[in-house]
Amino acid sequence: MFTIRGGKPLRGITAVGGAKNAALPIMAAALAADSASVLHQVPDLSDVTTLSQVLMSLGMLVERRVDGTMRLEVINAQPCLADYELVRRMRASVCVLGPLLARRQRACVSLPGGCNIGHRPIDLHLKGLAALGAEITIERGYVFAQAGRLKGTDIYLGGPCGSTVTGTCNVMTAAALAQGVTVISAAACEPEVVNLGQYLNAMGAKIEGLGTPLLRIDGVDQLRGAEHTIIPDRIEAVTLIIAGAITRGRLRISGVCLEHLAGVLDVLRSIGVRIEAQGTTVAVSVPEALRPSDITALPYPGIPTDVQAQLTALLCLADGISVVTDKVFPDRFLHIPELCRMGARIRREGASGIISGVPKLSGSCVMASDLRASAALLLAGLAADGESVIRRIYHLDRGYERLERKLNMLGADISRVTDAPAHLPSSLQPSPEEMQQVNNDVCEPPPPKFLKLADVKSSTSYNILN
Ligand code: EPZ
Repeated sequence: MFTIRGGKPLRGITAVGGAKNAALPIMAAALAADSASVLHQVPDLSDVTTLSQVLMSLGMLVERRVDGTMRLEVINAQPCLADYELVRRMRASVCVLGPLLARRQRACVSLPGGCNIGHRPIDLHLKGLAALGAEITIERGYVFAQAGRLKGTDIYLGGPCGSTVTGTCNVMTAAALAQGVTVISAAACEPEVVNLGQYLNAMGAKIEGLGTPLLRIDGVDQLRGAEHTIIPDRIEAVTLIIAGAITRGRLRISGVCLEHLAGVLDVLRSIGVRIEAQGTTVAVSVPEALRPSDITALPYPGIPTDVQAQLTALLCLADGISVVTDKVFPDRFLHIPELCRMGARIRREGASGIISGVPKLSGSCVMASDLRASAALLLAGLAADGESVIRRIYHLDRGYERLERKLNMLGADISRVTDAPAHLPSSLQPSPEEMQQVNNDVCEPPPPKFLKLADVKSSTSYNILN
């Protein structure tokens, strides 16, 4: 867990690492190559470690260097099972399905289990692969797929919430080795999908239309290994920008690809965050009060759902009413009750959170439920008065490379400690008097330490209660 002493403006320079959501489908696509690939700027994340284990179980040699370079080579093309024990830890393992089918004509991949951010079926992945000629059955929680040589065709990949990112990755990779031409419409346009497409083209594929909803893929007989660089992580970049803004600090963040952030920077500027861009570096400051906003998360180039929680945390401190809606994962709001524990005022309304800005947040003990929710709680903890504790930070490690070290270098005060009662900061532990009060007075809840009993007794809510 993290213990955080909040209220410190962040200052200084930091940098963005490689994108998790590009590295994962690219690592999986290396399964389709006849020779070794070398990837650069691969982030050191637990999700990357989990996928490396999946790939090793599928006969791949995975070598990582501390400088973020990774070498991947198939040394045994027999295995085709991606086991539940690994896939349940990381849904994106499903990205091995397309490369396995295309290269080994058979695959047995565990269905990814439930997810805290909402309903996440893979029906579009399977629809696309079946259209290319794969025979697919689902039994005992596994997808069994086999095919002769896949055949190019026209595929519409749009779903109820728009395009699918990893679905496009799976089908595009499989189509790269299919016989004939495949046209994918309603393809995802995310920069991570483009980065994968560029890697496949470097391996000898013929893919046109990357970054648009219409992909044309002229199948080839084989793909060779290639050298490729993972794009900067736009989600980490936004998380760091918001860290600077929510603490009213002054930051410079380097290694950012501005083109990928156009929509988010526009919204942040409308909220009152000053963002000055020089090449791949952005300077962040907040000269005035934060303004409320009405934000909707959408597929790229819209506002990414992966920064929705972080923006929600920022808008908790805006001067007025904001609305944050998620059209990609309409149930992705587990951060709301935890932010409310820190004094935020947010009401959930269907696929939206209605936020009434408050002057300040106060430190509290909160629980992370998923990767981006944990980032939002960390940001709130940085801004909050006093100490906070964030539990289950293993969620954060899945997508951020040693984030607390980066933030501490900028003046934050975050400690990573074992999750144990003894490590709870005294300010968040009920005092002996409060415990005594609880014991003495079952019907009357003890007033929190920082409020005098008299104040509580005079407050309306107390009288209504009694
Ligand atoms: C990718 O997930 C990202 N993960 C997610 O980031 C990101 O939130 C998401 O895209 C949307 O941008 C990786 O790239 C590894 P989708 P993915 O398929 O591909 C529905 C993070 O925090 N859908 O684009 O799984 C689905 O339910 C993670 O880094 C179907 O209905 O998302 C959702 O509502 C979380 N059928 C919408 O489409 C399908 O077969 C978009 O999902 C597939 C998806």
